[in-house]
Amino acid sequence: MNACESILGLSPYQGGKPIEELARELCLTKISKLASNENPLGISIKVKKAINDSLSSINRYPDGNCFELKKAIATKHNVTSEMISLGNGSNELLELIARVFVSKQTDEVIFSQYAFVVYPLVTQALGATAVVSPAKNFGHDLDSMLSMITTYTKLIFVANPNNPTGTLLTDKEVYNFLKQVPEGLPVVLDQAYFEYLNIDDSAIQWLSEFSNLIITRTFSKAYGLAGLRVGYSLCSPLVADFINRVREPFNVNFTAQVAAIAALKDDDYLSESIKVNSDGYEQLVECFKSLHLNFIPSHANFIAVEFDDAMDIYNALLKEGVIVRPVEMSGYLRISIGTFEENAHLIAALNKILC
Ligand SMILES: Cc1ncc(COP(=O)(O)O)c(C=O)c1O
Repeated sequence: MNACESILGLSPYQGGKPIEELARELCLTKISKLASNENPLGISIKVKKAINDSLSSINRYPDGNCFELKKAIATKHNVTSEMISLGNGSNELLELIARVFVSKQTDEVIFSQYAFVVYPLVTQALGATAVVSPAKNFGHDLDSMLSMITTYTKLIFVANPNNPTGTLLTDKEVYNFLKQVPEGLPVVLDQAYFEYLNIDDSAIQWLSEFSNLIITRTFSKAYGLAGLRVGYSLCSPLVADFINRVREPFNVNFTAQVAAIAALKDDDYLSESIKVNSDGYEQLVECFKSLHLNFIPSHANFIAVEFDDAMDIYNALLKEGVIVRPVEMSGYLRISIGTFEENAHLIAALNKILC
């Protein structure tokens, strides 16, 4: 038996090493996982209460249309529910969107070098052609991406901030880019880390001007719900209807819906997440500077750091109980920003290994 050619060439997505796995392998008790860009704060107390209150209903299927969650997101962003699609993480939406627009080998998908690893994965899984624009200063080169558009282009992915580089395009740059993309060519603006920017929400206002714009966001990062898997997209009602046709009937589970609604109401948790992240950024940057390590200034909840031998450092950090993430960028490790204590653990380990 053989799978499709496009699947044979695929390698599965590699997540950060689970804490339990490292604990088993090295019999460690103190482990800091700084590998998956999760929220280190733990669950919001209000979300926890909402989840506990909802548990008596999990014998029922969830609302497949996510009516209440869509209503909460619509209110927050001042859009209509018809513009919202929910996914099992925003990751699922990236895949569903690709399935809506891409179907054959001649279909081209444009994304940047060093962009989120899921873009090449979904492109290849669909048997389509990836068109990779060379990165500029580790970030997206939007002019180069524009120059690669052909009649075969079916979809463009832009991550802002980008993972794993943490680089950020300004609103002006993204807006000018959207202005130049041919009408009707879908652009995914993946804003998984948007909340950490703590800035005005310009992108959502662009939806009325660009019917080809699809914004994706997630509850996995600043809202602290990575384990529940819930993300959303905002786009024209027409595109949302297309996405709705390809999704599984109950793709967002009941607990995730309840938790996401509670998370949207918990402004204090969100503010605390943003503060812990910016404080942690300063703490880590001070360490990288003192160790003379090159790093890419980041606008998200992680930092890409350059090492002479990244894999040796990765393995040495594991022995010290610190899990970071090797990335597709040769010579770099991506380090998620943790709590003060987790960052201190990493800093002590790096000092031990490098000094
Ligand atoms: C740029 C980017 N987009 C999307 C995702 C997917 O996040 P989730 O599926 O947890 O919503 C991630 C996760 O790390 C990411 O870094």
